[in-house]
Parts: sequence; C-alpha cells; structure tokens
Amino acid sequence: MSSENDPYLAASAAARVLAKETGVVHHDVLIVLGSGWTPAADEFGAPTAEITVTNLPGFSAPAVAGHAGKLRSVRVGSLNVLLQLGRTHFYEKNDAQAVVHAVRTAIASGVKAVILTNAAGSLHSEWIPGTPVLIKDQINLTGGTPLVGARFVDVTEIYSKRLRDLARTIKPDLPEGVYTAFHGPQYETPAEIRMVKAIGGDLVGMSTALEAISAREGNAEVLGISLVTNLAAGMTGEKLNHEDVLAAGRQAASTMGKLLVEVVSKL
Ligand code: HPA
Repeated sequence: MSSENDPYLAASAAARVLAKETGVVHHDVLIVLGSGWTPAADEFGAPTAEITVTNLPGFSAPAVAGHAGKLRSVRVGSLNVLLQLGRTHFYEKNDAQAVVHAVRTAIASGVKAVILTNAAGSLHSEWIPGTPVLIKDQINLTGGTPLVGARFVDVTEIYSKRLRDLARTIKPDLPEGVYTAFHGPQYETPAEIRMVKAIGGDLVGMSTALEAISAREGNAEVLGISLVTNLAAGMTGEKLNHEDVLAAGRQAASTMGKLLVEVVSKL
C-alpha cells in the first residue's frame, strides 16, 4: 500500500521530512495548541526551527482564522518539543485521518507524550472564561474515529493520571472534567448541553477527542488541558461566537504557555 492511502506510512514520510526541515531527528513531546494560542508557544522562547505544516506531506492548511498551521521545534531541558500551532478539525473535511495526521507524524518522530490543548465551553458556571481545566476523560460524540479496522485500542485511562498529577504539582487548584467532543462546526443547542450534563460531561468542544485516541493508539501518554472560553450554550442568555472564543483564548494564552513550559520541564 502506498503512503497515499496508508495513513501510518504517510505519517512516517512526514516525520522524515520533519527531521530534515527542522534538523531535529527525534522529538520527545508534542503540544497541540488551540485557537489563537501563539502567545503560549512564544513562552517557550526562540524555536530551533519553525516550519509551515503544508511543507510536510499529508498536511493541509488549517481553514479557521486563528489556526496558524505552523510547527515549531523548541528545546526544553533535554527534551525536543514540537509545538503545533493550529490543527485540522473534523468539521473541515469530515476526515478523521487528516485530524490525527500531526499526532501520528509526531509519534513517528519519536514522541512519547502528547499535550492536547483546546478552547472549550464550560458547563460549570464557576469555571469562568480564562479557567484552565485538566481533562480527566472524554465522551466522543463526533461520530468519528481515526481507527480503521479491528484496532481495539484501550482508552480506559485515555488522559494520563500521572500527567494530571504532575500538572497539579505546579498548579494545585487546577479543576478537572470530562471533555465532550462534538463534530461541529455549529455550537451546541441548549438541549444538547442539557444532554451533556445528563451523561456526565463538564466541557464541550470540537477537537482533541480523535487526537487523544490516536495518541493512545501510538502508546503516547496524553495530557489534555481545556481553556474555558465561554459558558456552554443556554447558560447565560448570550449567544456564542467564534470571535469571542478567539479573544478569550488570546487573553489567557500566555498564562497557559507558562503552565505548559513548567509541565514540560517536569516531564
Ligand atoms: N462549544 C463547542 N466548542 C467550543 C465552545 C463551545 O461552547 N467554546 C469553544 N469551543
């Protein structure tokens, strides 16, 4: 099978080009940054290399404003960290393979820990915009999976307890919750949010879940952090819009970046 229709071969091919373009043969950690989070990446300091994702085979340009489509290689202590600025969402092309291509590429490049960040709506009114929340588990309502065929991946502890505990050694008051992933791109209806509450969700978003599954398939440890950008639909009487979500992300991004730098320093 050619790399064009085998997503794992495609990821290996992209990893080879990544090594060549960055001059870094092996990466240890991948951090996927959510909407408008460039200031978080800047907290890691000057990168060893920065490339545009479309220079790598199999990557498409992120369609959404605020998703930059860059990969930065930065050094933290003895670790080579790959920062992904902008991601492919399932709602863009309905293509779960495209959504996880960066995670698979990172794993093919040696990554053993994947940190997934996102902007999310909160079902808890005390988690106001700007609150970071550790993801302890997920409910995948996207209707998709990156796994094709009989790949029975264990997701009992999809988000690593060890990494959540490590994050709380830095910020002990970090709350944790269940991330509920929708296909999007429409935001949820108030009735859908009531359903999320009934089934045990605490956060809602349109990313992360498929990437987490793919990272576990690749045996990487996963840390998930949601940045609350809004209270979920129907909770405030206000309407939701993408500009407000981006603005809330931008405002909290450098604080999130500082937290991420500290987490990676302790890995
Ligand atoms: N719903 C879905 N995705 C989101 C939200 C939301 O309320 N906020 C940020 N991303």
